[in-house]
Amino acid sequence: MSALVVVGAQWGDEGKGKVVDLYAPYADLVVRYAGGANAGHTLVVGGEKQILHLIPSGILHPQTRCVVGQGTVIDPSVFLKEIEALNARGVGTEGRLLVSQRAHVVLPHHKLIDELREKKSGGAIGTTKRGIGPCYEDKVARRGVRMGDLLDAGRLRGKLEANLECWRPVAEDLGGTLPVAEEIVAQYGALGDALRTYIGDAAEIVRASIQAGEKILLEGAQGTMLDIDNGTYPFVTSSNAVAGGACAGAGIGPTHIRHAVGIAKAYTTRVGGGPFPTELENETGQRLRDAGAEYGSTTGRPRRCGWLDLVALRHAVAVNGLDELAITKLDVLSTLPELEVCVAYELDGERLTYPPYDRLEDVQPIYETLEGWTEDLTSCRTRDDLPPAAQRYLARIEQEVGCRVGVVSVGPDREDTADLRDPFSP
Ligand code: GDP
Ligand code: IMO
Ligand code: MG
Repeated sequence: MSALVVVGAQWGDEGKGKVVDLYAPYADLVVRYAGGANAGHTLVVGGEKQILHLIPSGILHPQTRCVVGQGTVIDPSVFLKEIEALNARGVGTEGRLLVSQRAHVVLPHHKLIDELREKKSGGAIGTTKRGIGPCYEDKVARRGVRMGDLLDAGRLRGKLEANLECWRPVAEDLGGTLPVAEEIVAQYGALGDALRTYIGDAAEIVRASIQAGEKILLEGAQGTMLDIDNGTYPFVTSSNAVAGGACAGAGIGPTHIRHAVGIAKAYTTRVGGGPFPTELENETGQRLRDAGAEYGSTTGRPRRCGWLDLVALRHAVAVNGLDELAITKLDVLSTLPELEVCVAYELDGERLTYPPYDRLEDVQPIYETLEGWTEDLTSCRTRDDLPPAAQRYLARIEQEVGCRVGVVSVGPDREDTADLRDPFSP
């Protein structure tokens, strides 16, 4: 099998980083295909925590090569800081990490506009303020600056001047002042110089890897419900987080992708604005937040918490073509006497088994109650080690969404994992 895609099956923060780190030793190449520094992917190895925003989550394995694909948007200073932090910890990046010259650059005014819009709307979307939306707007409007442009000051200046003109009225309307082109040229040109050996032809690496019959792991960011086309629009991010996004974002044809794994928490969280049918704004929600340490990896914001939404998960199985689920944070549910799972929604007296395109804020979740368990799961290493009620919980998920569960994660550490197998021989 040549390629496997790992995708968030909920509203992000499902534990994609942990699962990609687990799968990476089986892969030759890990390619991040969408999003930017809005992502925060956490790896915990031997109790030591590492949060990655842009660099693929395979980087801790010295034999694995990592590529950041053309579908991403790169804040070069975040990328450089991440490289420096890894190098300072003894993780080498030179010669095995490359960012696509086609990936778009998040510019200072993208972050400024993102922040001013959030302020003006009272945080309606609740973005990460990392400039993601405005950067993708430039890309789609065909006036973006790409990573390759950072290596040529003349080209960078020309593109920037045209780009800044488009944003000037927007910034003024929001009460902001745009930076001067020459300052950006100086700052971003220097970042380009510092990153020169890391910027290159990612498409060529992916192509050569396919031709050599290597194993490629495609790493998604965000989640299906935050996908610009398949999510809870307009409360979404600005890219295609779904498995299909991996084709365009990594530069790989659909015929090379043989396996799609969706990552889902055993409950649901969401950070930022937008409808969330199973949200618990009560003691149980707070209990999930405390037990699961549900605070954003990128912004530190408390995550909204709720019961497992199988309607959303069913949708994720469908739109990503998932053939396997990895369920994370099952340990967090221990000691809750009863667990609710949302099997359908009710809207205007009608029972829905897939999310409606609009009015998600008006649906009523229809719950089924399942029995909880009291045991600590952290030392479970196979599904059979789990208490019967936890096994039944997983079986119910499989039955409701029509997709088998593979990996079960029972703690944040790499070690705290049950049923890990070679994902390239599923
Ligand atoms: P990602 O964005 O999908 O990579 O997920 P994040 O890293 O943003 O958030 C997941 C959080 O849950 C991180 O703090 C992980 O260390 C932690 N985590 C992952 N799997 C488990 C698990 O099975 N149990 C517990 N308790 N924590 C987990
Ligand atoms: P990972 O990869 C959770 C959310 C934001 C906001 C919306 C739009 O760690 O799972 P943006 O800054 O992208 O314009 O914000 O999307 N969001 C995430 N939520 N995990 C993420 O990434 C997210 N990336 C963006 O909170 O609601
Ligand atoms: Mg995250």
